[in-house]
Amino acid sequence: MDPVTVSKEPVPPSLEVAGLAFAYPDGHQALFGVDFTIGRGERVALLGPNGAGKTTLVLHLNGILTGGAGTVAVAGLPVGKQHMAEIRRKVGIVFQDPDDQLFMPTVREDVAFGPAAAGMKGPELEARVDRALARVGMAEFKDRPPHHLSFGQRRRVAVATVLAMEPEILVLDEPSSNLDPASRRELADILRSLDVTVLMVTHDLPYALELCPRSLVLSEGVIAADGPTGELLADDALMRAHRLELPFGFDPRSVAAGS
Ligand SMILES: Nc1ncnc2c1ncn2[C@@H]1O[C@H](COP(=O)(O)OP(=O)(O)O)[C@@H](O)[C@H]1O
Ligand SMILES: [Mg+2]
Repeated sequence: MDPVTVSKEPVPPSLEVAGLAFAYPDGHQALFGVDFTIGRGERVALLGPNGAGKTTLVLHLNGILTGGAGTVAVAGLPVGKQHMAEIRRKVGIVFQDPDDQLFMPTVREDVAFGPAAAGMKGPELEARVDRALARVGMAEFKDRPPHHLSFGQRRRVAVATVLAMEPEILVLDEPSSNLDPASRRELADILRSLDVTVLMVTHDLPYALELCPRSLVLSEGVIAADGPTGELLADDALMRAHRLELPFGFDPRSVAAGS
């Protein structure tokens, strides 16, 4: 994809991963040279069977894991010790369990936590919190304790805590897991409405098709496929080779991808 140009200044891609390889301290190698680029404003799904290295890859995007070979750059900024605070602000990771992310007495305090730590305060901070909560449809829950909310509402607040940092890229690990159908639908509508670059790790292939025009298949620590989601899901041999299963009776050709 061509980089978007604004007054001759090329906009760097939101994410650029090159030659990324990583072995855990016990010697188990999880990534074997991963390359891909995500342009600003794209929504991309990261698909792959259990153990493929998806979480290991995500943990490299904001420098939680480092020390292997290769490079990661976010909006042109290399992920490494020298820019860690800025990288953590630019890469918003929504972890699988919202309870890992919400720990304050009220929703407001959880959403304010990151921007406040970055030095924001007063009316500017309140406006930032209100905007992030409005984007996930949780404005009226501002003064509630997170643990009184439903799981789906907690996941939306977790998304708001990350949006409050105005990240370059929003990374979601299994966003639809444990959601009932109505909450799954609400979250899809929210994700579609955001004007932010998204990388979504998921086993939920219909969700990937619905939300992400492009998908990456990570398998045994390498990118096995990178293309339009509808085309990848319709490739039976590819799906079988990487243990990706569509729900019974689901026809990827019957859905308009990523619209
Ligand atoms: N802390 C760890 N130490 C050693 N091996 C690990 C560790 N975490 C994950 N692995 C291994 O690395 C591989 C990739 O794991 P992971 O990134 O969690 O895959 P996925 O998220 O795709 O299921 C797996 O074989 C897993 O067993
Ligand atoms: Mg994982």
